[in-house]
Amino acid sequence: MSARASPARTVRVDLAGRAYDIVIGSRLIDRVGELAAPLLAAPRVIVVSDDVVAPLYGARLAASFKEAGIEAGNVTVPAGESSKEFAAFGRLMNDLLDRRPDRKTTLVALGGGVVGDLTGFAAAVLLRGVDFIQVPTTLLAQVDSSVGGKTGINTRHGKNLVGAFHQPRLVIADTDVLDTLPHRELLAGYAEVAKYGLIDDAAFWDWCEAHGAALVAGDPAARACAIEHSCRAKARIVAADERETADLRALLNLGHTFGHALEAETGFGPDLLHGEAVGAGMALAFDLSAKLGLCPAFDAERVRRHLSAVGLPVRLRTIGGDNRRRWDTARLIDHMRGDKKAEAGRLTFVLARGIGKAFVTREVDMAALRDLVDAAIAA
Ligand code: NAD
Ligand code: GLY
Repeated sequence: MSARASPARTVRVDLAGRAYDIVIGSRLIDRVGELAAPLLAAPRVIVVSDDVVAPLYGARLAASFKEAGIEAGNVTVPAGESSKEFAAFGRLMNDLLDRRPDRKTTLVALGGGVVGDLTGFAAAVLLRGVDFIQVPTTLLAQVDSSVGGKTGINTRHGKNLVGAFHQPRLVIADTDVLDTLPHRELLAGYAEVAKYGLIDDAAFWDWCEAHGAALVAGDPAARACAIEHSCRAKARIVAADERETADLRALLNLGHTFGHALEAETGFGPDLLHGEAVGAGMALAFDLSAKLGLCPAFDAERVRRHLSAVGLPVRLRTIGGDNRRRWDTARLIDHMRGDKKAEAGRLTFVLARGIGKAFVTREVDMAALRDLVDAAIAA
């Protein structure tokens, strides 16, 4: 380990027979080979990355494998959500097979949530299943998508509708790589950090209010602390409800029913990033909770105020580029019905009785929902 590196912290995801570590720390890209070596079925990996991240970190990762005596091939995909399309997935599978993997080859995902979801799904089906390791490089991927084994790709019917639960063998989050992440992407990931406070950890929400601004301004200590705390929260939830069957993992969908509608309306494109949609969705979920008399109005105010203060777009009129003039209540509610969380047309929401008191419900008064969306569009 380099003299400048701070000690790494480890969070365990406790799944019977498939438990794994999330290692979090500075300059870990240079140690991936050493950390992965004891877990590999054979000293052979294929690194999947995108064409933004590979030039930034691919060479250091390759050097770490070489130093550990691990043979490493690589495949690079275009950056962005389009790499999760079916056709792109087909190309990736052929590119992987071109490198002649066997059942003991391990895939390594070096990138954000797109590369992680794509590589994880490729690992689930390549040669009927091989191991994979996550090396997440966005804040969103470090605090959420790299942990928990949800993998998948998109279809013309919607996002992540084809996929598998396939847990990684190891997650290595190098906190320094966030230095090169565009600020807007960092902010989008921060929405997923704050989410853990809103779900069931009011003290962490207080921490976010106190330190969130420093975190998004680049404070490394705040960043490391938030990543570790978020990973502990996610690991605990995933260990208790891996396959989202007990309305516990579903709490991680706070903000997602509204967020999904906003993303669908803006075409799942650059006008609204996933984390931005989650941020705006969480503000709306708290507003709806307050409107329904479930949650103090003051708590909904706090959520909106903090997310907005760090720079996340929470008012609909500030969201969506050219789309911002054409929000429509009926269309947004229609998108909510098309969300994969809806069951037989009944909407599923994560609402809250206060900060840190989220719960899942399928009983939301449609008139109140319509009024709320009308008001949000007008605000
Ligand atoms: P992303 O993977 O598209 O990354 C965002 C952009 O940042 C890309 O252009 C990427 O090339 C670039 N980038 C990544 N790391 C960088 C770095 N260190 N420096 C400079 N640029 C860097 O987006 P994301 O927000 O990480 O992930 C979004 C995806 O995650 C969506 O497809 C979403 O469906 C998925 N997701 C999955 C889960 C899950 O549980 N599996 C959870 C949440 C989101
Ligand atoms: N990001 C939601 C989940 O992992 O369940």
